[in-house]
Formats: sequence, C-alpha cells, structure tokens
Amino acid sequence: MTKIKFIDKNGTFRLKNPENYNGLYLPIAGEKGLKSSITPNLGGDSKTSQNTFLLEPVSIENLHNNRSTRNFWCRIVGKGYWSVCGSSAKQEAAKFTDEQDESELEAGLMWQKLHRVSKIYGLEADTTSFVTIDGSMEVMLVEITNKTEDDMEIAPLGAIPIYGRSADNIRDHRHVTSLLHRIKTTDYGVEVTPVLSFDERGHQKNDISYFVYGSTGQGKKPLEFYPSVEEFIGEGGSYLIPEAVRTDKAGRKSGEYIQGKEAVGAIRFENKRLKPGETVSYIMLAGIADRTANIEELVDDYRKTVQVKEALEKVKNYWINKVNIDFETGNPDEDNYLKWICFQPILRRIYGCSFLPHHDYGKGGRGWRDLWQDCLALLIMEPTDVRRMIVNNYGGVRIDGTNATIIGSKPGEFVADRNNITRVWMDHAFWPFVTTKLYIDQTGDMDVLFERVTYFKDYQSMRGTDHDEAWNTTYGNKQRTTGGQIYFGTVLEHILLQNLCAFYDVGDHNEMRLHGADWNDALDMAWDKGESVAFTCAYAGNLLDIAKCLRNVERLSGVNKVEVLKELEILFADDEMLYNNPAKKQELLENYARECENCTSGNTVLISIDKICENLEHKAAWMMKNIREREWISDGADGGWFNGYYDNHGQQVEYCRQGDVRMMLTSQVFSIMSGTARKDQIKLICRSADKYLYEEKAGGYRLNTDFKEEKFDLGRMFGFAYGEKENGAVFSHMAVMYSYALYKQGFVKEGYKVLKTLLDTAMDFDRSKMYPGVPEYFDNDGRGLYSYLTGAASWYMLTMITSVYGVHGELGDLIISPALMPEQYNEKGDAKISLMFAGHGFYVMIHNPDKIMPDDAKIKSALCDGKNIENIEKMSVRISKEDIDKLSREKRHVIEIYI
Ligand code: G1P
Repeated sequence: MTKIKFIDKNGTFRLKNPENYNGLYLPIAGEKGLKSSITPNLGGDSKTSQNTFLLEPVSIENLHNNRSTRNFWCRIVGKGYWSVCGSSAKQEAAKFTDEQDESELEAGLMWQKLHRVSKIYGLEADTTSFVTIDGSMEVMLVEITNKTEDDMEIAPLGAIPIYGRSADNIRDHRHVTSLLHRIKTTDYGVEVTPVLSFDERGHQKNDISYFVYGSTGQGKKPLEFYPSVEEFIGEGGSYLIPEAVRTDKAGRKSGEYIQGKEAVGAIRFENKRLKPGETVSYIMLAGIADRTANIEELVDDYRKTVQVKEALEKVKNYWINKVNIDFETGNPDEDNYLKWICFQPILRRIYGCSFLPHHDYGKGGRGWRDLWQDCLALLIMEPTDVRRMIVNNYGGVRIDGTNATIIGSKPGEFVADRNNITRVWMDHAFWPFVTTKLYIDQTGDMDVLFERVTYFKDYQSMRGTDHDEAWNTTYGNKQRTTGGQIYFGTVLEHILLQNLCAFYDVGDHNEMRLHGADWNDALDMAWDKGESVAFTCAYAGNLLDIAKCLRNVERLSGVNKVEVLKELEILFADDEMLYNNPAKKQELLENYARECENCTSGNTVLISIDKICENLEHKAAWMMKNIREREWISDGADGGWFNGYYDNHGQQVEYCRQGDVRMMLTSQVFSIMSGTARKDQIKLICRSADKYLYEEKAGGYRLNTDFKEEKFDLGRMFGFAYGEKENGAVFSHMAVMYSYALYKQGFVKEGYKVLKTLLDTAMDFDRSKMYPGVPEYFDNDGRGLYSYLTGAASWYMLTMITSVYGVHGELGDLIISPALMPEQYNEKGDAKISLMFAGHGFYVMIHNPDKIMPDDAKIKSALCDGKNIENIEKMSVRISKEDIDKLSREKRHVIEIYI
C-alpha cells in the first residue's frame, strides 16, 4: 500500500518513488506573476498568462511524454551521467528494475523537494523547487552529495528549455515563432527576448524577456552555455540524452547573441571534485521580466544557497499563514487533507480555471460562477478583500440580468465572450446573492447592499437572444442612461433584477429556460426548449432568502423603502394568472429587456421593503408549489425524486420506467437546499440516491444514472463515457453541495456520509493516485482528476466549518451549532477548529465525552476565554456582534463548548 505520509500539521507530506505514478503535479506560484506546475520529474510548465509561457504548455498527457522541461545533470567523469530528477534515457529504462533510483518527494503548500539516490553512481541529490512570493521567478536548488568512499569528479549542468511565447503557438506557427527569438548569454544565464508576439490579438511588438540564470551555491558564475536546443541536444539527441551532457562539448561564453532558434537555458558549471560525503549545491532561476527590467538585479537575491533557503522559509510561512484554518478531528491525516482543501480556493484565485495540466481549457481568468463561489471560501480566509471583490463583481451584471462571463485579473475588468459566441448560463444570476448573503451574515455589514455600482454593457442584448445594433465601442462597456450618463444602481438593485428576470424567463413547462447551460456546463444542447427545474428551485430559494435579508435590513436599520430603476417596476407584477402563463411571463420579460436594451431612463422609484418582500415570497411560493405538483417522480417502490430538466424536445429528462431509471443529483441538491423538497420528500430522495447513485468504491454519489443514450437534445455530457466527468462521475462539487443541502435541512447522518466517502476515496492513494486535496471528480477506476482547481473545495471547506462544526455568522453574531458525528471526535471526545471570525482569531473546542449523536445532544455550558456564554439554545451558542467587537485583537480567543 502506498501512502501519503504527513510530517506536520501544515499539510507537508512525503511520498516514495512518486515517479511511478502518472498524472501527479503540484502547483507552485507567486501571489501574482508565475503560475507553474511541477511533477516528481520536474516536468510541468510555467507561465504568467495565455500569451506568456516560460516553459512549453503541457496538458496531462504531456506529463509523461514531454521532457522539454526542467532538468539538472551530473556527468560523472569517466563513468556516465545522471539526472537529479530521473529524466534521462538510462533512468527511464531502469525505472522498473533493480537499478531504479530510490526517490522520495517531500512537498507542502507551493514547494517541493525531491530526494533521489542513484544506486549505480552513489550520488544523492535534493532538489527543491518553489516560486518567489512576488512571482518573478522559479527557484531550483540542487544539492548533490557523494555517497561513495571515493573522490568523484562531476560536470554539473542545469537545463531549462525556454519556450517564451503564447500557448497558441504550440502548434500554430511553432517554427515561425522561434524565428522571432533573440537570445543572449550573460555572465550568469540565458535571456530570450522575442521580437514579436504572435497570438490571438494578432502580431504585437513584444515587451517581455524570459530568462534562465544559474550559479553555484557560493554564488559563482557558470562556466559556459548551450543556449539553443540544437546546440544542447545535438544531432540525433533528445532531452533525455543531450549531447552537451553526453560529451564534453564546448559551449558558448557570456556575451554572445544568437537569433531565430528554439532556446534553452542550458548552463554548464565548472567541474567539481567531490570528496566522500561532500555536498555541493547549484541554483537555477527561471522567470519572466519586463524587457526594460534589470534581470541581474532581480536575481541578485537568490544567488547563494543561504539566500535561497531563507527565501524558501519565507515562501513556506507565507502560504501556511494564508490558510488560517486548522481542523483537529479525531484523524490527523484527515486534518492535513482538509488543510489542502482549504488551500485549493486560494489556488483557484491564482490559477483561474486554465493553468494546470488537467485544466488545459480557457485562456485564463475565472468563470462567473467560479468566481462567486470561490469568494465563499476566501470570505473565511482572506476577508479583507472580499467586500471590494463582491462590489466590483456586480459591475459584471447586465441590465437584463445576464452577465459578462469572464472576469479579468484587474478589479472590475470583464470580458463578454472572447469568441463572440453568445451564451447565457441560466444559473449565473443565482450565485452572487448566495455569496453576498454569506458575506452579510459573517460580517453584519448590510450597507454593502446599498453600494452603487455600474452595469456591464456590450453588443449582446435581450438575454442573449438579440444584439443591440445601436451599441458600439464608443458607448463603452458600462450601461448608460438616455442622457448619456453612466448609470449606477445599488447592489440590491443588481440582485433584484438578476433574480426577477430569471423568474420570468421560463419555457413551455413554466420552469426556467436552460439557455446555454446551467451549473452543468455540459448540458449545452437544449437552447430552444430546454428547462432547468434544478435551478428554478435554486432561484426560488434565493427569492425567499432575499426577502428574509430585506426584512432584517428594515428591522435593524429602520429603512423601509429602497430606490430602484423605474423600468424595474414592471418585474414586480404579482398576479397568479400571469405566473401560470409562460408565454405572458416571457412577454413581460421581453418588454422590460427591450425598454432598457440600449439605454435606461435613469429615473428611479421608491418601493417599500415590505411590498418587495411580499412580492418575492409570493413568487417563491408559486414556484415551489408548481415544482412539487409537476416534477415529483416516484420509483413505484419506496423512493422518489424531483425531475430537474426538460430536453430540447420539451420532454422530462428524469423518470423511472421499467428498467430505465433516470435520476440526476443536481436536481435533488437544489430542491433540498432551497426548501422545495419537504422533509418526507428528502427522505425518499436520500433513499433513491443511495439506491441509484451511490457507489462506495466510486467515491460516493454519482452525478446521474446511466442514460445509455447520446442525448444530443440535452448536452455534450452524454457524449462523454459514462462514469466520467459530467456524465455520471462522482463529481465532487455537486456531491459536496448535496451534503451541504442535507446538513442545512438537518439530515446530518446523510450529509456526513457524502463528505466521508469523498474524502476516504481521495485519501486512498492506491486508487485515487493523487496528492492531498479534493479532485473535481473520480474516474471509473477511482483516480482523482482535475486536482486543485475545483469549486468543490470551497464548498467542502464551507460545509465543514459552517455546518459540521457549525461555526458561522448571523448578521455579524457568531453562532456555533456543532453537528459532528461521534467518529469526528478524538478518543477523548474532543474536536477543535481554529479560524478567524470578524478579524479575531478563535480556537473552538467542542467536548462531547460521551460522543452523543447530534440529534440527541444538548449543549450544557459554553465558555469564551473562561467566561460563561449566556446565550445557549439546545445545540447552538451565540455571541453577539457587540461582544465580539469588544474582544482584543491581540490574542486568539478560546471558546469551549460542553455537550
Ligand atoms: C467545473 C466548473 C464549474 C462547473 C462544473 C460543472 O467544476 O469549474 O463552473 O459548474 O465544472 O460543469 P469544478 O471544477 O469547479 O468542480
């Protein structure tokens, strides 16, 4: 059994012979700048954006095929040659034989150290890799030790190929773009400055230099360089057996220029005679800089081993501190997995959804729904920036309730659709309020609803069904009024119009139209007649929550009226006849969207909060009733569930007919989460999910049953093999949301089972073959795929903190209502979590010595810093916002809860 072995509480782990598994990679990145991936062989790539790849872009299949990545070689004079990362033809051949190197990887948040011992040469190497916090370069420290009894002479050579261009050129103009390269050797390294950049923007003058620098651990200059691939590998050679390593071939000196070649930062150091037991170290740096930047100055801080070791400590501490949450369940391995899960949302903030080997799609940036969901986790870990992020992101909403789909890296930067494809994801308007609600609960800051923000404007209009011919680039990307002014509306107005427009946007069955897709991006082929009942549920839940939130605003602030854009009034129609008529609803929506298609009037009206709330509640009640009446499916035995979709033929997608069971998890998640499913229905849903979707070995609950049909009238997902990705895999994100929904409705045992099976599957390395974390999904063989960058992590973390440990905010008050299962306590019956809340550090300890089940448990007493907490209800403790504000910020506060 292979095991991930943790060596501390910060997620640092060891793994023996990691190169025996394919598809393993670790993210290493800076806070900005370089985003790299690194494999146990030092493969992977590195880039700052789609158009600026330092190392050649790789997808998952290239990890075992493509060796044009980092390497460090030792030619052992008179004996042979050896790669410190196992990437040589010989080591490859020896891999599954007795001559295989011994290796062990040690890795933590944003760094790795590879330990490798050559049985043949008696050499040992430790290779440490990380990216500086500012993201300007990758650092590789190689420490080589002679483990033999004799002196040994080595010729050391570091080699990092410099791709230096856009990912677009991986096939498109690969050769021509190498002709743009201008390469020079300096005292310490190789620099490549392409003349032009060829990419989707056309041909642009290039302003970027790519570099690879090297020095000995003492800071000494290299001996010579092989800056072009052909000089380095030689005729007939390859990266696994380069001529410059194989032979004593002369290289180039500093100060030489070459043009138009594929480049490599191949750096040869002086020969070194190593005594028995002696260690020597070398440093390789690789980065991207503005062409005017002084690279010499930039690398100066990383020239010697001591400097690099100091920088490594800083990097380690920096990222550990970012994840300011510690779990102490009864299982330390699990706690360490949770550490990585909490780190994952930070990784997606940095990498977006595009820049790791599985994530070979998109061109950077994050999608709309991912952005909002990642905010959920960041709210708990990095709360200071979140308010600004939330407010800015609302600027991506269009006046018709749809939104820009890609979010740039600068605040408030939105991209409509890069390929001018009009697509509307019907779930997009659901997520912003979910995040805003959590923000308000955690902070008590209701003023955020009244911040004024612009609206996004582009050529697309009428909810993706038309184009605004009167719009042009001079108009700009911000919505204007008829007077030509940029229009600002409150955050609340944005929320209202997003959710109200969705309410009216229904198809023939009076459920919301699917448009381009919903949460499941692969349900993308039912534009005309598709409907998503799943998200109709979700929006109904939102409408109720918005009403609840507004009633709190009125109660706490005394404000009883809000100002909204005049055109919006029409969306507040409240009439059952209208609700029952899909065509009339569409007509009303069209009237609204047409009215604001180019410009808004800019006029506003005041509406009473009470009236708005009533209105939203009526709408929600109508939606839920409609769904309960029309969409419930019984399996004819003791199960049942909600149909979640209509296909492009207007047919119900889910059903239970003899031998043909069509059930989808998403539909159940949102019917439960929103409160559409009644308690008795939830029980039946759980039973059916267990019967038709659950498979322990697969990792838990599958996304859907096998339809055994290439359903072109619903989406590309049915083209995927069954059990893979969006077609019936255990897709972590939806599974975790299933758990969240169950906890929300008090189904603790059921919710726990989902979380537990997922984590157990990830932790079973022999099957999952993945580093710690939660993957996007498990494939048919149980392998975890699409590591790190998945929304599942945010929801996992959120569920653990706010539902399992039950630590959450309610309008700024701190509530703790634990719902841990007996096995989530240690042997003494204690469970602990430390986290930040409202700018204060808390260490929450829950003592349940008899390990009473949550349903039967009752809190006997609770203390904060030794003082009694008065406000206790059965299983819930409340500390008011005022009391929290009075606490000192200097120390971590201890809360003890006795059950
Ligand atoms: C990914 C996408 C997410 C989408 C999901 C299903 O999930 O990022 O937006 O909803 O696929 O198509 P993730 O990798 O975040 O779990």
